[in-house]
Formats: sequence, C-alpha cells, structure tokens
Amino acid sequence: MYDFIQKFHSGWAYLALLLLVVAVVNTASGFFANREFTGKDRKIALFGLIAAHIQLLVGLVLYFISPLGLALLGEMKDASARLTSLEHPLINIIALVLITIGWSKHKKQAESAAKFKSILIGFGIGLLLILSRIPWALWL
Ligand code: HEM
Repeated sequence: MYDFIQKFHSGWAYLALLLLVVAVVNTASGFFANREFTGKDRKIALFGLIAAHIQLLVGLVLYFISPLGLALLGEMKDASARLTSLEHPLINIIALVLITIGWSKHKKQAESAAKFKSILIGFGIGLLLILSRIPWALWL
C-alpha cells in the first residue's frame, strides 16, 4: 500500500506540475496579450486544478502512512525531516487553497482580463509555493 501510494505521488507530480506550468503560461499570455477568455483557456486551467487536487489528496493519504510524514513530526531539528513532515505538506495545502481561490474568483468575473488575472495570481503564487518546497533530493 505505502509503496503504491508513494510511487503514485512521485509520478503524478510530473503531470501535476506540467499542467500547472502550462496553465500559468497560457493564462499569462492571455492576460498580457489582452485576449478574450475562451472555453479553451478555462479547460487548460481546469486540467491544472484537477491534477493538483489529485496530488493533494494522494499526499494527504501518504502523510499518514509514510515513514517520512507524520512519523517524523517530532524531528524538527533535522532539515530533511522538517521538509517532508511539515514544510512540504503545509505549504502545499496553502498553495492548493490559493489555486482554488484563483479558480473560484475567475468564475465570478465578467471581463476576460479579470478572469485571466484571478487565475494568474492564484495559480502563479500556488505554483511558486509548491516549487519552493518539493523534496528535490528525494525526487530527482
Ligand atoms: C501539488 C502538491 C504536491 C506536489 C507537487 C508534491 C510532490 C512531491 C514529490 C515530488 C515528492 C517526492 C517523491 C519521491 O520521493 O519520489 C513528495 C513527497 C512527499 N509528499 Fe508531496 N506533493 C504535494 C502535496 C503533498 C501534500 C499535500 C502532502 C501531505 C499532506 C504531501 C506529502 C508528502 C510526503 C509525506 C512525502 C514523502 C513521501 C515518502 O517518500 O515516503 N505532499 N511530494
């Protein structure tokens, strides 16, 4: 069980990050080019949102069964233990909240520029937060 969840979280991360990068780049290009917000822009952002939420859900399960998750929460003096048991989960939950807020806000906007801006801010900051706390040494 642990093995499968750990490998899934490790592999799905490539897809989730790729789709988030594509969503941020597409949204930024739409915003700065002053384009109209179309169904295609919505779908591109939606794929990023869904992939990131799946990553979050699998991460939450992993946290309770991994020897590097909750099990290490007492070891705050060790930087790598702190990263996988506290910083990575906490910052990623915050990132997903920002991504979700960006997505929800765009739906309430009427103008294309405002839609692009909501997604760009939420997804952009969310992606930077995620990248800042990936356990790179474990992953690559
Ligand atoms: C979009 C959000 C997330 C991304 C992109 C992400 C990505 C990653 C990556 C690339 C690794 C290293 C995997 C490896 O060892 O090959 C990892 C490990 C880990 N992640 Fe996440 N993660 C995310 C969210 C979360 C969340 C929300 C939690 C917990 C609440 C979590 C818990 C963990 C744990 C415990 C590990 C260490 C697993 C182990 O090796 O046993 N992750 N994550």
